[in-house]
Amino acid sequence: MTSEQALTIGFIGGGNMARSLVGGLIQAGQDAATIHVSDPSSAAREAIGRLGNVKLGEDNDAVVDAADVLVLAVKPQAMGSVLAPLADRLAQRRPLLLSIAAGLTTSALQTWAGPLPLVRCMPNTPALVGAGMSVLYATAAVDAAGREAAATVMRSAGEVRWVEQEAELDAVTAVSGSGPAYFFHMMEAMIAAGVEQGLDAETSQALVLQTALGAARMARESGTDPGELRRQVTSPGGTTAAALGVFADGDLMGLVSRAVAAAAARSVTLAEELDPSALRS
Ligand SMILES: NC(=O)c1ccc[n+]([C@@H]2O[C@H](COP(=O)([O-])OP(=O)(O)OC[C@H]3O[C@@H](n4cnc5c(N)ncnc54)[C@H](OP(=O)(O)O)[C@@H]3O)[C@@H](O)[C@H]2O)c1
Repeated sequence: MTSEQALTIGFIGGGNMARSLVGGLIQAGQDAATIHVSDPSSAAREAIGRLGNVKLGEDNDAVVDAADVLVLAVKPQAMGSVLAPLADRLAQRRPLLLSIAAGLTTSALQTWAGPLPLVRCMPNTPALVGAGMSVLYATAAVDAAGREAAATVMRSAGEVRWVEQEAELDAVTAVSGSGPAYFFHMMEAMIAAGVEQGLDAETSQALVLQTALGAARMARESGTDPGELRRQVTSPGGTTAAALGVFADGDLMGLVSRAVAAAAARSVTLAEELDPSALRS
């Protein structure tokens, strides 16, 4: 793959993630006519069609024929039945494969698709609002231009980072993949606590959401370590110290550590369950 050519990007599966990536790519200046999407659902195709003059259809073969980069955006459980019939075509065309399916290893994907250059990506749900954290792993066959092409696709939905060992994606899944839900859960807890302290639910929610956004922005934009930011706003004997003391008594650090470890362990077993050898048995 050369980096100079205008890349044609194909999507197999035109659901939520594909729609978000296509929208981001068009916003970033990718010509909609160079984007091809196949999906059996007319509602999914229509939703993508509203983003621009994207080439839409139901035929996965046609997307393989057109694509330099082929984004695999179907549910993990559907991947085998989608890829296996495409294997011969893929071997001829040799697009760069970019899988965004949670839990499917490169080995599982290559069992179905053949030994093609492959980037495996772990995105997260804020990708749906352009604020995703996508972590990518490339197999050895992916060259620099291929890595850049994959990163360009995923940057359309937020930030991109690389790992050099595929096994790191289990920790990534446990931190950024599942992470949005941890923060949502913290928000739920704080909203409920605010109501217990006498706020109405709407006010409590507004306070919590803006506080979460503000804290995240401060942590990013100040360049200061979150622990240091916490210390800076915690006066001895003050209100914040009173709350943080309760967190410490409940071993919040240990609790989060165990939660993330449980997610990472589940990521390993999920990948085993999705492996073609396990699916066959
Ligand atoms: N959503 C997220 O935040 C998120 C986060 C991390 C990873 N991911 C990964 O991203 C992938 C897509 O997720 P999503 O949320 O976008 O799912 P989704 O909205 O269900 O999109 C998948 C689409 O693929 C279509 N499809 C099914 N069989 C197909 C086939 N044979 N050929 C072409 N298209 C087919 C589905 O159509 P039907 O509905 O008609 O079956 C659906 O429109 C998944 O593998 C998921 O693990 C998503």
